[in-house]
Amino acid sequence: MMDISKIQNLKNQAISRILEAKTEKELEELRIEYLGRKGEITNLLKEIPKIKLEKRVEFGKLLNEVKKAVEETIKSQQFTIHNSQFVNEKEWLDVTAPGEKPPLGHLHLITYTIREISRIFEKIGFTRVRYPEVEWDWYPFEGLNMPKNHPARDEWETFFIEGLKHPGYGEAVLTPHTSSGQLREMENYKPPIRMLNIAKCYRRQSDASHAPMFYQFEGLVIDRGISICHLKGILNYFVIQYFGPERKTRIRPFHFQFTEPSFEFDVTCIVCGGKGKLRNGERCKVCKEGWMELGGSGMVHPIVLKNGGIDPKKYTGFAWGWGVERLFMMKYGIDDIRLLFSGDLRFLEQF
Ligand code: PHE
Repeated sequence: MMDISKIQNLKNQAISRILEAKTEKELEELRIEYLGRKGEITNLLKEIPKIKLEKRVEFGKLLNEVKKAVEETIKSQQFTIHNSQFVNEKEWLDVTAPGEKPPLGHLHLITYTIREISRIFEKIGFTRVRYPEVEWDWYPFEGLNMPKNHPARDEWETFFIEGLKHPGYGEAVLTPHTSSGQLREMENYKPPIRMLNIAKCYRRQSDASHAPMFYQFEGLVIDRGISICHLKGILNYFVIQYFGPERKTRIRPFHFQFTEPSFEFDVTCIVCGGKGKLRNGERCKVCKEGWMELGGSGMVHPIVLKNGGIDPKKYTGFAWGWGVERLFMMKYGIDDIRLLFSGDLRFLEQF
């Protein structure tokens, strides 16, 4: 039979057990025990129609209140269980855990390489300079022994600036090579000269190994008695500092209008170690028979010295102009220059 005090006890018992539940699972088990299809409260509710009419309303009301109270207690306990996990986690502090590292960036690879190149040459007395990147024709071409319409100019696929012309120095161009800095340096300083000019260059080219904007580093040494031995010695020193002591170098005859004689400077391949073949006997795809080409160099042409106001009978010099990106790519065996300009962190973060 229905009994008010029994119902009250049931309610109290249910609520106190619910409030002690520590996990969602425990809570769910209690919900089933009291409010499930065969739960204790559900069973009592099913009995209501059998109660005598006078008492039915009273019991009905009471049981519905009990049901509601139990349901609400379950809900609030659910909330408490959920929150307590959350709060505990936050408040728990493992003082022995290593600190969390915030994501840290680094210099861009090109900036880094420029600094590395500068450091290597500064150690042996070179001074880093920069000259205009928008320049008069005289500096990259005419003054470098390439008169107007000279076919050699074609090699520098130049961007010209329309409608900007100097009466003596010619049209304005975006410097296609850092060699334009040679004459600027000679105008500014008297020998001995040890210049390192690192600057942006621009050419109408774009593929895996050429970008329309790239960096070159140009060296110029002028003094009394400078010979090819100095050229070879200084550039060999650089290669060993940058690529490591196992590298060998060589110079190969070439042609530039502003140097005589002119050379291509080569270094032994980083991938096959200069053998031209991989360990499995296959031909190395990165180099030409064990050699990689670093770039152009040569003894400064007497006409260029004269154009710079330096007496070629007293002074001689050598120069080189190599690509910064190319240097970096050779060191790490990277085959697409565009990666360096893409800003893709998946690539940049590998270094
Ligand atoms: N300026 C030449 C180039 O861009 C390289 C070079 C520089 C060659 C100095 C000789 C001397 O290819």
